[in-house]
Order: sequence, then structure tokens, then C-alpha cells
Amino acid sequence: MTELMAFDAAKKELEERPWTPSRDLALSLVSAAQEALSRTNNISEAKEINDKLHAIGVLFKKSGAENAHRNIILGQQLLTIADIMLKYDALDSDAGRPEEKNSSTQVDELTEKQKAQKILRVSREILRRWRLVKEARESVEEWIQSHIDKTLTVQTYINHLMHYSENGFEHDWLKVYNIWSFLSPDPRFGRDTYPGRIPGQINQNLNYYFSEPGDLVVDLFAGGGTTIDVCKADDDKYGNREILAYDRVPLPEREDIIKWDVVKDGVPDFGRAKLVFLDPPYWKQKAGEYVVGSTDMSQLGLQEFNDKLEGIISHCLNHADYVACIVGATQRKEVFVDHAAELIMRLGLPYWRVIVPYMTQQYMPFNVTNAKNGRYPLNLYRDLMIWRSNV
Ligand SMILES: C[S@@+](CC[C@H](N)C(=O)[O-])C[C@H]1O[C@@H](n2cnc3c(N)ncnc32)[C@H](O)[C@@H]1O
Repeated sequence: MTELMAFDAAKKELEERPWTPSRDLALSLVSAAQEALSRTNNISEAKEINDKLHAIGVLFKKSGAENAHRNIILGQQLLTIADIMLKYDALDSDAGRPEEKNSSTQVDELTEKQKAQKILRVSREILRRWRLVKEARESVEEWIQSHIDKTLTVQTYINHLMHYSENGFEHDWLKVYNIWSFLSPDPRFGRDTYPGRIPGQINQNLNYYFSEPGDLVVDLFAGGGTTIDVCKADDDKYGNREILAYDRVPLPEREDIIKWDVVKDGVPDFGRAKLVFLDPPYWKQKAGEYVVGSTDMSQLGLQEFNDKLEGIISHCLNHADYVACIVGATQRKEVFVDHAAELIMRLGLPYWRVIVPYMTQQYMPFNVTNAKNGRYPLNLYRDLMIWRSNV
């Protein structure tokens, strides 16, 4: 009877115990923390989020450990009950031999049999719940594993923040793989408020891989002057290059940008360059953000835009060793215009092709919701293509 009571109590406790720290909850907490982290630029805030995430991990681990302990106790209890069952089984089979029984033992046996049946029912139920708890525990362990990985990502992010604030961007610009991803633009290069301003780290890498100090670099869509600032930097790895930069509407404060309209006037005569860099408006994406006019690249029809860009690149390939063009696809709801693919079809395969991701923050929550509901992917990268001249 003591065993029965113990089992009833254990079962009741198991039934009542809420399994609150579920894996789903854990995952949503982690993604909320990740989201918050990706939005903050503040180191102490990032650290606080990281600490909270860590605390959640500890809580889940503790809860997993409690369950493990509970399972051990239940396991021991089940073993005891199994022993009892064996004993009752024996009694039951004895009961099958009438010649060895008298009337009083038959009544006792019946009672014992009922007890045995009850124990069997309870132990089956406990076994079922035990399995459920075990499964839940396994998924929490799985979660803890992924949580640890995510914490590492969080840590890397914080390291980046600290690194940039303490040492500047100087040590972390060079890319060795063909995905060039940057947490934020190096503030030393270009004007940060300029529409479509690119991270200067792109130009640092291009100059490093495709030019030497003293070489001429040309930019036909200079915008906020990012390429110029990189070329003028006093570092032979990417700077100390000659630079000629043009734009249809130069910024008043940038006297180093030559006023030139490539649509109206064609490609300027810059002599022979080592590298030409092209960061045109990505067709309609920023239409209206540059000074409006029919010869602005963002105002052209798609056919004319493609023809112009192809013409500019072909022309430059006759006057430079390398021509680099960066362009992101135009996305309007589910309509996706792949400018890079169009250029490759027209000009042939580039010598290098690099993926340059955008930050996810460029999309608003409603963009994400629309994409999910409309079942289309949101574009998250630009193509950087480098063609090599054969003349
Ligand atoms: C994407 S922005 C370049 C941004 C630049 N790389 C930076 O980091 O600041 C494109 C530039 O192309 C210029 N542009 C557009 N149409 C042009 C044209 N027909 N001739 C010359 N420049 C043009 C715009 O004025 C704008 O500055």
C-alpha cells in the first residue's frame, strides 16, 4: 500500500507540474534577443541583452536538470513496482491452481489482484508521462546547444562593437572570401547621409586586389565621395591611389568631384586607368532621391538603363585593366529585376563575382509580413562584378 500511495503522489505531482520553459518559448526569447541586438549600437545595452539571454539559458538548464533528477526517482520507483508486479504475477498463477486454495485465501487473492491491476494502470500512466518528460528534456537539451551557438554569435557581435569603438575600423576591412559583409560603413570614407552611400570597405578591398599605389582609379558615379576618400587615404594597401571622380550632380562641398553626366555626355576621357569603379543608381530603387532629371540613371526606362550600363562598362574595358560594377536587384513586391544577371548575359562572365549583403534592417516589418504572405523572397544582397580587360 505504501508503494501505491507513493505512486499516486508522484503521478499527481507530475500531472500538476507545469512544463513552462518550452523549447518554443526558448527559441522566441533567443530570436527576440537577436533582433534587439541587431538593432542596438550601444555596447552596454548589447551586454545587458547578452546577460539576460545567458540567464535564460541557465534557467532552462536548471529545469532540464530537475527533470533528470525526477526521472531517476521515478525510474527507481518503477523498478520497485516491477518487483511487486512479479510477486503478484506469482500469486495470480498460484490462484490458477484450485487444489491448493481454500475459500478465505481466494477472497484475499482477489483483493491483491485488484491492487495489482491498479498498480499496473498507474505505472503505465507514469511510464507514458515519463517518456513525455524525457522527450521534452531532450528538446531542451537541443535548445541549450543551439542557445550556446547563438550566444557565441552574440559574443562575436559584441566583440565587433568593442573592436570598432576601441581600435577603429582599420584592422578589419580585408575580405578573403567572396562574400563581403560589413557591420557598418567605415565613417572615414564618404558622406554618411548620402543616398546609396556604400561602405568604403568595398573600395578598400577593390583597391587592394586590383591596383597598386600610384595607379589611377576612376569613379563615374562618385556620390558622397567614398571612393575618393579611400584612394586618398595614406595606406599603401588601399590608398595612395590617383583618383578621378565624376558625378552628374556633385555635392557642393566636394570640389574633388568633376561634374559629368554619363548619360548625356558619354564616358569622359580619363586616359588609361587601372580600375574603374561603377556604383550607379540601382535603377528605380532610389528614384527621386538624387536630383531629378531625365538623364539621371534612376529615371531611365529599364531597357535604356541596361543599354547605358552595358555601354559604359564595354567602353571602360577599353580604357582600364579592370572594371568593377556593384548593383542590387530591383524588387517591387514579387517583381524581381536581376540587373546583375542582365549584365552578365550581355557582357559575359565577370572575372570575379562577389556577394555584398545588405543589412536586414533595410526591410520594415510590413515588408517581411508581405513577403511571407505573398510567398516571395526579399533580396538581401548586391552583386559586385569585376570584368578584366583584354586590351
Ligand atoms: C549609388 S550613388 C553612388 C554612391 C557612392 N558610391 C557613395 O558611396 O556615396 C549613384 C550616383 O550616381 C549619380 N548619377 C546618376 N545618374 C548619373 C548620370 N547620368 N551621370 C553621372 N552620375 C549619375 C547620382 O547623382 C548618384 O550620386
